[in-house]
Amino acid sequence: MKLTIDTDINKSYTLPTDFYTSTEFYEQSKETIFSKFWQYAGDADDIGHSGQVMPTTLMKHFLDEPIVRTRDKDGKQYCLSNVCTHRGKIIVESAGTHQMLSCGYHGRCFRMDGSFKSMPAFETTEAFPSPSDSLHQLPLEEWMGLHFTSLNPVISFQELVRPIQERLSWLPFDTLTYIDEKSRDYIVNGHWALYCDNYLEGFHVPFVHEGLNNALAFDEYEYHLHPYCNLQLGVAKDGEPCFDIPKDSPDHGRNIYAYYYWVFPNMMFNIYPWGLSLNVIDPKAKDLTLVRFRTYQFKDTPFDWTANQIDITELEDEAVVESVQDGIKSRFYHRGRFSPTMEKCVHHFHQLIGKQMG
Ligand code: FES
Ligand SMILES: [Fe+2]
Repeated sequence: MKLTIDTDINKSYTLPTDFYTSTEFYEQSKETIFSKFWQYAGDADDIGHSGQVMPTTLMKHFLDEPIVRTRDKDGKQYCLSNVCTHRGKIIVESAGTHQMLSCGYHGRCFRMDGSFKSMPAFETTEAFPSPSDSLHQLPLEEWMGLHFTSLNPVISFQELVRPIQERLSWLPFDTLTYIDEKSRDYIVNGHWALYCDNYLEGFHVPFVHEGLNNALAFDEYEYHLHPYCNLQLGVAKDGEPCFDIPKDSPDHGRNIYAYYYWVFPNMMFNIYPWGLSLNVIDPKAKDLTLVRFRTYQFKDTPFDWTANQIDITELEDEAVVESVQDGIKSRFYHRGRFSPTMEKCVHHFHQLIGKQMG
């Protein structure tokens, strides 16, 4: 089964249901899609001080790659494999502050940059230590106070997010602060890409989101495509909250309600006048997805949390995604067509999947 998507949206069909239902495609996507692009690895604050280490599993129950972020005494940050090069134990089990990384199994030690330091009882082992006795270093990028890494990137992080940086260079991203009580996780009974499909069009807003529809000027909703990310521009109706946009921005003079940026394959940066709602879409099984909503607020930007519709909108989205998950099992539905005006970003996503899946 080929997943080729016609580049002409007028001629194109959507991804076939096999992509969402087959175990083989699900497994294949780990290497062909997720390993090759960038993932949110945590907040830069997690290792804000010299010697701090923060272990995590990159995409638990999916990529399942144990990593650890470290900061050395000179303030340099690293992202390393967290698996001991001796017999494979996890080295750093919990966050803390250390001078070096030492394995609790047989005492192998590594420097904060992952290079091999010492190992007891290996005096006569030949050709030891070799480069493979050091920890594998992964790339680590910091942006908006967030950390990103990738197992085997086909594109640099800078190139990936440049369109966002260029359009929104005037926003004070360096002042974003994480708001734990406004952040939460959702479990969705559906394939991760169905969740993304739904996110990638505002077509459903008038049908599914009554509250959001009252805030957005639907006829001014826009879609902008970039190589590996895209933007949905939500314009506010009169009287709704919107950005105060400086003169040198292409959006000056417009009442922008939100910039909805999606970054291939599974990250969403929803930027509002009050800050950022980061959505990370984590596949757990081919019909189960963890959606992490993390909220970050700009400094000195007042926000009326009670008027925040994000929660309601999310539950409305989950309901339609779960309904589609039921629908795609049908014998009578195989694939659909696109609205050339309203589903440009879904078409973009399907093309990228088709290209990566070969
Ligand atoms: S597994 Fe780490 S020292 Fe043996
Ligand atoms: Fe929605």
